[in-house]
Amino acid sequence: MNKNNLKYLIKKMTVIEKIGQITQLSTSFFDVSGVKATGTASRMNITNEQKWNIGSVLGKLDANKMLTIQQEYLKHNRLGIPLLFMTDVVHGYKTIFPVPLALSCTWDVNMVEKVARVSAKESSSAGYHVTFSPMVDVVRDPRWGRVMESFGEDKLLNGDFGAAMVRGYQQNDLKHPESIISCVKHFAGYGASEAGRDYNTVDISEWSLRNDYFPPFEKALNAGAKMIMAAFNTLNGVPCTANKWLLGDLLRNEWNFEGAIISDWGAVKELLKHGVAENVSDATLNTLKSGLNIEMMTTAFFEAIPELIEKNEMIEKYLDEAVEYVLNLKLELGLFEDPFRGVSEQREEENILHPNNRNIARKVARKSMVLLKNDGMLPLFKHEKIALIGPYAQDKSLLGPWSIDGNYQDVVSIYDGLVKKGAYVHTLDELTYHTIADNQISAAKELVRKSDKVVLALGESEEMSGEAGSIADIGLPSSQLHLLNEVAKCGKPITLVLINGRPLDLVDVVPKVNAILEAWFPGVEGGNAIADIVMGDYNPAGKLTMSFPYRVGQIPIYYNHQNTGRPKEELLNEPRYKSQYLDIPNEPLYPFGYGLSFTKFKYGSISLSSNKMTKDEQITVDIQITNQGSIPGTETVQLYIQDRIAEVARPIKELASYQQVQLQPGESKTVTFSINEQMLRYPHTNHQVVSDPGEFIIYVGPDSSVEESARIILSE
Ligand code: IFM
Repeated sequence: MNKNNLKYLIKKMTVIEKIGQITQLSTSFFDVSGVKATGTASRMNITNEQKWNIGSVLGKLDANKMLTIQQEYLKHNRLGIPLLFMTDVVHGYKTIFPVPLALSCTWDVNMVEKVARVSAKESSSAGYHVTFSPMVDVVRDPRWGRVMESFGEDKLLNGDFGAAMVRGYQQNDLKHPESIISCVKHFAGYGASEAGRDYNTVDISEWSLRNDYFPPFEKALNAGAKMIMAAFNTLNGVPCTANKWLLGDLLRNEWNFEGAIISDWGAVKELLKHGVAENVSDATLNTLKSGLNIEMMTTAFFEAIPELIEKNEMIEKYLDEAVEYVLNLKLELGLFEDPFRGVSEQREEENILHPNNRNIARKVARKSMVLLKNDGMLPLFKHEKIALIGPYAQDKSLLGPWSIDGNYQDVVSIYDGLVKKGAYVHTLDELTYHTIADNQISAAKELVRKSDKVVLALGESEEMSGEAGSIADIGLPSSQLHLLNEVAKCGKPITLVLINGRPLDLVDVVPKVNAILEAWFPGVEGGNAIADIVMGDYNPAGKLTMSFPYRVGQIPIYYNHQNTGRPKEELLNEPRYKSQYLDIPNEPLYPFGYGLSFTKFKYGSISLSSNKMTKDEQITVDIQITNQGSIPGTETVQLYIQDRIAEVARPIKELASYQQVQLQPGESKTVTFSINEQMLRYPHTNHQVVSDPGEFIIYVGPDSSVEESARIILSE
């Protein structure tokens, strides 16, 4: 089969066969074990004719199930077109890695590419062909539950990690049986849902879309992603699912995207709720005209297209185009030649949860953890008696949202991790997340009094974040705060280990504890990774990729904001009429890029190869970093740039580059960055991405609050 044959194949297809190809149902419709479809699926009426022409399915799978479904399907499909299997392998298949927000805190793109590689290897063994990952939505609002699926608030990082995952999944060779197609999502602006409430309205200027929200998508698509998912939300009034400007003019015509565009779950029929379609026929017409190719989990296309075709001759053309995009995915995966892609239970067994995969999971988990505070309490010593207390002490629900194929029995809990490490640790019976009884508090305090030090393992339960996991109060649940306050009264040193999927409001918690380790949802190796850090076998190196607000009232908060006309820091003698809160600081509690180490790094002064450059030249920026402590450590050195005078107001600083450096005790290394004209470009009001000659300020430091700077001039 080749591209030309596809057109010939489409000519042979009936209308129902074509509609089937562009409709996606859940795997439960094909379940041969007799399990009935549940949820939305149980409410969908699908005829047998429709079912055996469906182009793709989504849902849980294993090798045996895939082989059975594909065999059965091919017996029924008249033209023998194989079924495509899709799913959300977001941070691992069975070897579950930390959630993407945590992955980005590694600032290690190569490591994250390996994560995607392992995920593709495992999930392809189970029969999957496509993953709905990565999500490259820029996020600035921790109330939104899906920030855990993003790479944070910065576009450069979202683009770099997004592209790395695409490379890891697809390996530039889709015919390889261990590659899967990457579907980048959610196009576009979903991360900016108003007030952090999921599925809510999004209103962003075109300029800001081009400046802040689109670049990660462009980078991930340029890395070769073959699919993209339209977002649920309206974008400036028009739902993305039926947004011709977004899907047609921009994606197809301006960016020349040649892959398939899929809707999000049920989104075609949601056009009725958005109030932009009167009925299913309207909704179908709008989506097809806008350029959508696959409808996920509604039957709108089956219901409306046969009649629409009678009335509108363009419909069959749209339909044929959409079918071709779907068939092309099958072609690129080699499914026409081998619909089973070498899937077998044996391959599954060999690949899944292989010790090498677990080893990567442990390494990435510990590198993703961010040490937010340490007054010297960490690391702990093996002779110290530790009271390990909190809902996460023994709980194995460390996988986090979107780990649909993961199993809790594969998880190493924090308690198990510490015990394996030889820590002298005691714990209590399991505590729950939202109610902790008085007798449990008393038991906790009793254990604390008999111990040298305390490790409190607190956080959000898994269902508190992820899709539809929006929260207005992003503090720790009140029962856990009460536990912390009571334990703190015992006067023993406390390390707080946090398990969660979003930046939390910690301002009242910080003074009560001696150390805070932000461990996120760390995945199957979570307990081992936490023990590695807490017991001092690994020196933490993670850095935040999303600001931790001082209070919820600061949200949306992000480091790369524009200046106001009345900047607080410059109006020191003005008590009131400046841009400030009267009750809290403007700054976040912990800024973007922040993270401590058990050692201390000293930054030297910035040295430039020149302070002037033309558009064809580049400047090198050198800075010396010294490890002043007594243990080796890794530091992520961050380069930020501010365009001083521009056509459009530019951020006070923007991440332009970053590098990791490993330093032995006492060792110094010079880190060198290059700055070229391309790095100084941004979209102007006419949408041209160009630079403005003039002055730029360069900052190099350990996080986005860095003040050490130098100036350069870009000449015409
Ligand atoms: O991929 C997801 C999407 O991110 C949210 N809605 C459901 C889809 C398929 O599971």
